[in-house]
Order: sequence, then structure tokens, then C-alpha cells
Amino acid sequence: MRKTLVVGNWKMHGSRPANAELLAGILAARPFTADVAVCVPFPYLFETAATLAASDIRWGAQDVSAHEQGAYTGEVSAAMLAECGCRYALVGHSERRAYHGESDQLVADKAKALLARGVTPIVCVGETLAERDAGQTEDVVKRQLAAVIHTLAHCAGEIVVAYEPVWAIGTGRTATPEQAQAVHAVLRAQLQAATGHGDRMRILYGGSVKPDNAATLFAMPDIDGGLIGGASLKAADFVAICRAAA
Ligand code: G3H
Repeated sequence: MRKTLVVGNWKMHGSRPANAELLAGILAARPFTADVAVCVPFPYLFETAATLAASDIRWGAQDVSAHEQGAYTGEVSAAMLAECGCRYALVGHSERRAYHGESDQLVADKAKALLARGVTPIVCVGETLAERDAGQTEDVVKRQLAAVIHTLAHCAGEIVVAYEPVWAIGTGRTATPEQAQAVHAVLRAQLQAATGHGDRMRILYGGSVKPDNAATLFAMPDIDGGLIGGASLKAADFVAICRAAA
């Protein structure tokens, strides 16, 4: 009942020629059973849109401003992302939380700004290694998600949640399917209790997803796809992950 979604997060990688090659590789591999999207750096949004517009591959951004418009130098609004045809935008990626001091409330406000413009937020949550070792995983992800649930209480529209344990991002150390499933089940129960339709909301796993581990992760009952970093930069790897979705 929940269609698998695989999202590539290019982070601050790419160039016009490299992007063209990567997108051509993804397009050539269609059709996919899963929904597939790429979240690209802002300057590449229009070109990505032009390349993908006639396909069923969607595109999105990696961040957004919580403000509607104004004197916020360097920021990009949800309305601008909508104009670029973005279907998705990431909010609260752990790299934004860690390097840019983004709070739970700011992440929630960004998600709200996106929904107001018809862009689906992919809300990232996840614990650090120290938090996991201290037995705080559940408390941390529930706190992060609670801010979003509270802020979006009266907003209509789809949200996607991505569970990304910080210790698994870019480290090659993937959460086991059982570890990931346990957290996804907690998040789904929280979404269900708050909205009554958590069973219809997609929860992605991110953190060192590769072609050889994607299928076992995606087979878990509450894992509805993946948010893919490093492995989304090579068409063959990304395509293999997209195909791992049943
Ligand atoms: O957004 C993607 C995640 O940060 C995962 O990155 O697949 O390189 O570990 P990774």
C-alpha cells in the first residue's frame, strides 16, 4: 500500500557534464517499480527539470528557507523551488543540523514552508553515535519528529520521513535491517498516533545504502525506500538500488 521511494541526495557534488551523464544513465534504466527522485544542488535544478520533465523521475532540493521572501541573503524560498518544479525538498538533514545549527523547530518551519507551496518535505531525523551508545536513539528521533508533527498539525499535504543514523552516513557502516526497522516502527507508531494515517506515510532509510544491502533493508516492513548519498552519484549503483525495491 506504500509505494517504495528511492531518493538520491547528491549533496555538494556534480557538474553540468557529470550530471548529464548521471541523469542519462538513470533515464536509460527506466522503468522502475519504485518512485525515484534526485535532490540536486540549487544551481542545477532548472537543467535537471528540463532533463527529467518528460519522464517519471522527480527532482528536488536539499534545503529551503523557512521564510517566504525578504532580505535573507543566500537563502532559497519554497516558492522558488516550486517554480523549479521540485516535487521534494530535504529538510533537517544531519549535515544541516550539525554544520548549520538547525534546530528541530527550524526544520519544522521549513517543512511547513514547503507544504504551503505544494512541495513534499523529506524530513530527516537520526541519532549520533554518542546518543545511540547512551540508549537515547528513540528519544532523539521522537523529539525531532514531534516538532514537525506539532508544527504541521493543521497543514495538508504529504510528508516523507527519512531515518538516517548519523553514524551510518558516509561511513560504510550501515544500520542492520533490524536496527533500522526498530526505529522505523517507533516513528510509524508516532506518526499514526498523531495523524491517524501513519500507515500511509513513507519512511525512508538513509546511511550507507549500497546495491548489496538495499534489498534487505527495503524488505523490512516499515522501510519504504531509501535516501541515498554516495551511491547516488554513480548511475549503475543508483539504478541497482532503485531496482532493489520490490
Ligand atoms: O542523504 C543521504 C545520507 O546522508 C546518506 O549518505 O549514502 O553517503 O551514507 P550515504
